[in-house]
Amino acid sequence: MKPIKFRLSLLFLLLASKSFIAESKCNKTCDLALASYHPMKDSNLTYISEIMKSNLVSKPEDIFIYSTDTMPNQNFVRASSRVNVPFPCDCINDEFLGHTFLYELQPTDTYASIAEFTFRNLTTKERIQRDNVYAEKNFIPKFVKVNVTVNCSCGNREVSNDYGLFITYPLTSKDTLESIAKDTKLDAELLQRYNPGVDFSQGSGLVFIPGKDENGIYVPLCPTPRKAGHLARSLATAGISIGGICMVLLLSICIYVRYFRKKNGDESNLPPNGYKDANDDTGSKYIFEDKLPKFSYVELANATNNFSLANKIGEGGFGEVYYGELRGQKTAIKKMKMQATTEFLAELQILTKVRHWNLVHLIGYCVEESLFLVYEYMENGNLSQHLRNSGREAMAWSTRMQIALDVARGLEYIHEHSVPVYIHRDIKPDNILLNENFTAKIADFGVTRLTDIANSTDQTHHMAGTFGYMPPENAYGHISRKIDVYAFGVVLYELISAKAAVIKIDKNEFKSLEIRTNESVDEYKSLVALFDEVIDEEGNPIEEGLRKLVDPRLGDNYSIDSIKKMTQLAKTCTNRDPKQRPRMRAVVVSLMKLNSSIDDGSSTDNAALTLAMEHD
Ligand SMILES: Nc1ncnc2c1ncn2[C@@H]1O[C@H](COP(=O)(O)OP(=O)(O)OP(=O)(O)O)[C@@H](O)[C@H]1O
Ligand SMILES: *[C@@H]1O[C@H](CO)[C@@H](O)[C@H](O)[C@H]1NC(C)=O
Ligand SMILES: *[C@@H]1O[C@H](CO)[C@@H](O)[C@H](O)[C@H]1NC(C)=O
Ligand SMILES: *[C@@H]1O[C@H](CO)[C@@H](O)[C@H](O)[C@H]1NC(C)=O
Ligand SMILES: *[C@@H]1O[C@H](CO)[C@@H](O)[C@H](O)[C@H]1NC(C)=O
Ligand SMILES: *[C@@H]1O[C@H](CO)[C@@H](O)[C@H](O)[C@H]1NC(C)=O
Ligand SMILES: [Mg+2]
Repeated sequence: MKPIKFRLSLLFLLLASKSFIAESKCNKTCDLALASYHPMKDSNLTYISEIMKSNLVSKPEDIFIYSTDTMPNQNFVRASSRVNVPFPCDCINDEFLGHTFLYELQPTDTYASIAEFTFRNLTTKERIQRDNVYAEKNFIPKFVKVNVTVNCSCGNREVSNDYGLFITYPLTSKDTLESIAKDTKLDAELLQRYNPGVDFSQGSGLVFIPGKDENGIYVPLCPTPRKAGHLARSLATAGISIGGICMVLLLSICIYVRYFRKKNGDESNLPPNGYKDANDDTGSKYIFEDKLPKFSYVELANATNNFSLANKIGEGGFGEVYYGELRGQKTAIKKMKMQATTEFLAELQILTKVRHWNLVHLIGYCVEESLFLVYEYMENGNLSQHLRNSGREAMAWSTRMQIALDVARGLEYIHEHSVPVYIHRDIKPDNILLNENFTAKIADFGVTRLTDIANSTDQTHHMAGTFGYMPPENAYGHISRKIDVYAFGVVLYELISAKAAVIKIDKNEFKSLEIRTNESVDEYKSLVALFDEVIDEEGNPIEEGLRKLVDPRLGDNYSIDSIKKMTQLAKTCTNRDPKQRPRMRAVVVSLMKLNSSIDDGSSTDNAALTLAMEHD
């Protein structure tokens, strides 16, 4: 027991002295800062990444991910805009926060030109003079680099705990407090409080402005290590080694939080259960990847045999889909018709953080030549193919029920738990994909939002959704989660009947069932209407009508009771009044009960359906 205690307190003392006592003057609570670099004409990220090289920046992409707000793409730097360059925020000489870049002298440089031109006033020539033993650069021997120190800030607990990442911003003659507040959408008073006594209109000098991380999210301050340090130190003097354990714990929490945030963006904003499903094993290898991988066009072309027809697996509203093996993983590569905009890429970064077992995982993207989205490959294609493609074996009723539950879970996740929450707006069997184990995952979620962003400058309004899956209120452009609930109800009807959402009516039988959307709607009937007729039919027991609608390929291998309950659930989901439709979380509960009641053979379980009626 004793040696352990001893070692722990020793470790704690070591950590305490290193992390807190030594840095006490700096108030260091962050490792990362951003430098606002005002590029010169015809500049490029390659050049900037060379100038401001650090352990955080080695290539242009390292800068680009923090500058998606101001850069349309990585290869285009606007001279009038600013680029956010990440750099390590260190404690310098135990005195202040900053980072010393090692700059390789060029023949025409002077200290003034390095400060004012090369480093765009992120530092001053006086500072450079002070940090280098040589009074002027002419005396600097070859192969010795110049120390160029740029200040940084980690925020101020007394102002706000909401901001822990700061941009070091050199003021120019064009800036005023109001213009910066307007550009950053931050409160002017808050900006002033972070920079006490600074006149933002003075035309030069540095200010510190809260900045967003690579996911476009403001990073909050790390939990108070300073106070914890004091506490631990006083405990230590009192000789309580348990304090050491506390400290180590606290520290590891802080380090963990930082590490985790750095690697994953702002996961701390996600609900604890939401980010990673317990049984998500395929996704786990990406869990610590710090950003969405970018693929080169060459890489994609190689993987898809130059986008050959043989590799093409589908085509939809947004473009063509190709199969390809990338970096050892099977992927589906979607060539998008639209071009990537800055906002699009920012949105994409957020989208990748939304992970769930029942959502098709977005692995990466590529912006060369055209926009490509790379998804995990789903071996068994889409649900539509299994329901209506006679070449495939009919799916058992239990498989269909499981698929319904999978889809419900995926939808519940994006509706209730993801940050931000999403409305899919295009739920249909083509967007429900099946992996090798027939686990269903929702595809294309978030894409409608992406295209909204892409099209927001267009005059043409892109109507999201697919005919047959759109609820009546969609006609008024009303968008809510209940749109997805309606479409989900239609999918349930399809699982039961294997019929398309819009059906051609063959006089008095419901037989020939083709999808025709480009012809007059009059001779066609929605699947919802078809089921409604059977359900509302007077006199006949509902079972009789239902049996006629059940997918003939199921034969007798289904429980009519289970079908009946599923039908009732689908009916509540497709209620004309969106308020009467259940939330997805209630649907999940119903389907779970329905699935388990089939397993143990016990049939009558009305609790399932009453629960589904729990409205918001
Ligand atoms: N990750 C994937 N794994 C396997 N197949 C896929 C994958 N993504 C798409 N596909 C196949 O490609 C087809 C076309 O997909 P795409 O999303 O472009 O169009 P869609 O789903 O038919 O319609 P929409 O444009 O409305 O989404 C899908 O229906 C599916 O069969
Ligand atoms: C560190 O914080 C203390 C109190 O919070 C403050 O008085 C001091 O000025 C800060 N030091 C620096 C260098 O910002
Ligand atoms: C990038 O900018 C530097 C300096 O402005 C220039 O010398 C270089 O040729 C540029 N590179 C490209 C690829 O444009
Ligand atoms: C840097 O500051 C000096 C003096 O205020 C100014 O003349 C120069 O234009 C500034 N450089 C940049 C890149 O803003
Ligand atoms: C950087 O910070 C130090 C210490 O607070 C200060 O003396 C110096 O003036 C700052 N440099 C700039 C360019 O603002
Ligand atoms: C840069 O700073 C380091 C550490 O302070 C110092 O040893 C070195 O001499 C400086 N370089 C120059 C060229 O002055
Ligand atoms: Mg799709």
